[in-house]
Amino acid sequence: MWIKTRSNDQLVADAKALFDKHFDAQPVGVWAAPGRVNLIGEHVDYAGGVSIPFALEQNTAVAVATRKDGKLVMVSDAADEPVSVDLAAVGPGSPDNWAGYVAGTVWAGLKDGGIPSCAGLSIAVTSDVPVGSGLSSSAALECSTAVAAYELATGHAPDDAARARLVKACMRAENEVVGASTGGLDQNASLFGKRGHALELDFSSGALDLVPFDLAARGKVLLIADTNAPHSLSDGQYASRRGVIDDVQEALGAGPGATLRDIPDAVDRACAWAKDTGRDEDVVRRRVAHVVEETARTLEAAQALKEGNLDRFAELMRDSHLSLRDQYEVTTPELDSVFDAAGQLGARMTGGGFGGAVIVLLDQDKVDDTVAAIESAAKDRGFPEPTFLVALPGEGARRLA
Ligand code: GLA
Repeated sequence: MWIKTRSNDQLVADAKALFDKHFDAQPVGVWAAPGRVNLIGEHVDYAGGVSIPFALEQNTAVAVATRKDGKLVMVSDAADEPVSVDLAAVGPGSPDNWAGYVAGTVWAGLKDGGIPSCAGLSIAVTSDVPVGSGLSSSAALECSTAVAAYELATGHAPDDAARARLVKACMRAENEVVGASTGGLDQNASLFGKRGHALELDFSSGALDLVPFDLAARGKVLLIADTNAPHSLSDGQYASRRGVIDDVQEALGAGPGATLRDIPDAVDRACAWAKDTGRDEDVVRRRVAHVVEETARTLEAAQALKEGNLDRFAELMRDSHLSLRDQYEVTTPELDSVFDAAGQLGARMTGGGFGGAVIVLLDQDKVDDTVAAIESAAKDRGFPEPTFLVALPGEGARRLA
């Protein structure tokens, strides 16, 4: 089954209709931010690595109006009840549901100055970004809120410098208010995405390069197969992977200007540290090896992409999945089943793992056969029915109406 995506006009109409249903006022405007797909460079953003994501054409849209009573009142067509919270009451763990992404963004933006002021907002949310699929529905929610609150405070859209500050606010919302220790890949992609391009993000230098990504011209497609085995990044497994890497980085003296990939013999030194501190040496070796190798792989993939060498790119995608499966251990039987059914080459899980989606880079004329193979593998093993999307690089967060 193919996942349905609304036109921008429909998204605007639906966000406005939802707003009208719940609020007496008119919305000032409608803003949108996309989900993202990560082509390669997984679980390295919090270790100064490199990732190559792009912003999807699937967006979350928010219809927003200002209020003067210090409240954030949030409604979503995916939630039963509106959520109302005093801005002064927002903080770690509060609110403790989907509204934490929205309120947390405004809270963090006000604290850091990324959002200069806010005396309250009424917000109606509608989204085409699949939830729990590794496609960053959370970042889409944060970033659509961020650009709306920014423009309502300043009277203009954020430039690149302002977007960089909004990335920080959105990350802080997720890390501190929601309690997911994610690393910035998603928010950068959602705020800085450009139609027709992938982004090469270097989390060590902070560099962000646009890389043309026009698969159609090469007769190729990027297929997303959502396993529909849901995941959550705030359930402890993501944090457990990150925790090991954070500890190793600290023990090895990594920090600004000297991230894991700059440390010679990082894997051996991490093993020595694990032995000294009574940790499982084999686990630490595999986790650190993944981060170091995935970063080297992604640098090579960026080069391959710039040279138009999609065959090499496809091999590197496969190797990335194998490392996530065997060394980082964040795949699931459902993800591995899609990876195998798609033929491995050009396939890999995308996002945080523990559920979610697999991407497949393939020839246009192979889409139908590949979809059929993935569906039948899931059926044979009694897994949920996967759903599909053809991913194209769309625009980053912006005002729609
Ligand atoms: C999630 C996180 C990101 C990143 C990826 C894995 O999407 O939000 O920060 O760590 O997982 O690459």
